[in-house]
Amino acid sequence: MPTERVFSGVQPTGNLHLGNYLGAIVNFVKLQDAYNCLYCVVDLHAITVWQEPAELTRNIREVTAAFIASGIDPKKHIVFNQSQVAEHAELAWVFNCVARLGWLNRMTQFKEKAGKDREAASVGLYAYPNLMAADILVYRATHVPVGEDQKQHLELARDIAQKFNNDFSDSIRAHGLDEKFFPQPEPLITGPATRVMSLRDGSKKMSKSDPSDYSRINLTDDADGIAQKIRKAKTDPEPLPSEEKGLEARPEADNLVGIYAALSGRTKADVLREFGGGQFSSFKSTLVDLSVEKLGPIGAEMKKLTQDPAYVDSVLVDGADRARAIAGQTMTSVKDIVGFIRKK
Ligand code: TYM
Repeated sequence: MPTERVFSGVQPTGNLHLGNYLGAIVNFVKLQDAYNCLYCVVDLHAITVWQEPAELTRNIREVTAAFIASGIDPKKHIVFNQSQVAEHAELAWVFNCVARLGWLNRMTQFKEKAGKDREAASVGLYAYPNLMAADILVYRATHVPVGEDQKQHLELARDIAQKFNNDFSDSIRAHGLDEKFFPQPEPLITGPATRVMSLRDGSKKMSKSDPSDYSRINLTDDADGIAQKIRKAKTDPEPLPSEEKGLEARPEADNLVGIYAALSGRTKADVLREFGGGQFSSFKSTLVDLSVEKLGPIGAEMKKLTQDPAYVDSVLVDGADRARAIAGQTMTSVKDIVGFIRKK
């Protein structure tokens, strides 16, 4: 059995928001007690869409700062940026040759991101899920905490792992390696906020690229900004229901209750027991207080950290050195399995 290991990544594409925090980062923090974890700022993924270089550098530091400010311990675990560990790109190439076009053609995220003019999308955007599979499998990670939108990519990573193990089963055996050389990575999509929706439109995911800043709460928003956005958040005219079933077909209410539950570490049912029957106006006031209490210190710490880029960069260099030691071992075996010649 391969050892259990957690891997996950966040793109440094700016506007890190409450969805990233509640859908992913909060769970990253929790998993530190039970697993060895690697948390990666996936800068190679970011450039599948044009990034202004100086802004990319800033955003890499900002995601790193968000990890640390949220409570990830870069000494006990590994925090690094993807481009410093060349093995990600190396394994991704092998996976480009394992994954089938038909598999990638089914990826809904590519269709959404490429939009109507698919011919103008970068090749990297199309091959993106293969790189993501490489990120996870180069560490032979077994658990991957993500928001719901990454589920399909995780399924693809599982398919790639299995096909690699099958295609090379004889060689894997001949080299005396475990026949399940790559494990089946398990998605961990947990908590009451696996899909945080836009504050302006309950049918749309909260996203970094939404042109309306009022659609999302950024981790760097100050107390006034948070309060304004929550007060302006779209709701419906009914009072809050007392049971979860009453949230069906009320996406905006469901979203705000989910956010409250996730921020307070409670279930939606529990939150509704307290607020059911009440008006949104008073619920929103309580949500503002809770959000400012939980997010305020994170934003402040992020600000402090980003003012010390030398420290942030040193965390990434140290993490990358430790990550490379693990990734290098996997790549050595992959080269043997595939039949490449290497220095011994
Ligand atoms: P990214 O950078 O878009 O998002 C980072 C994490 O935040 C989650 N997330 C959300 N969760 C709930 N509600 C939302 N509105 C919301 N928006 C984003 C995402 O699910 C994700 O967990 N492809 C990945 C990055 C990646 C990766 C990996 C993840 C690259 N390699 C390997 C896991 C393992 C992405 O674009 O995430």
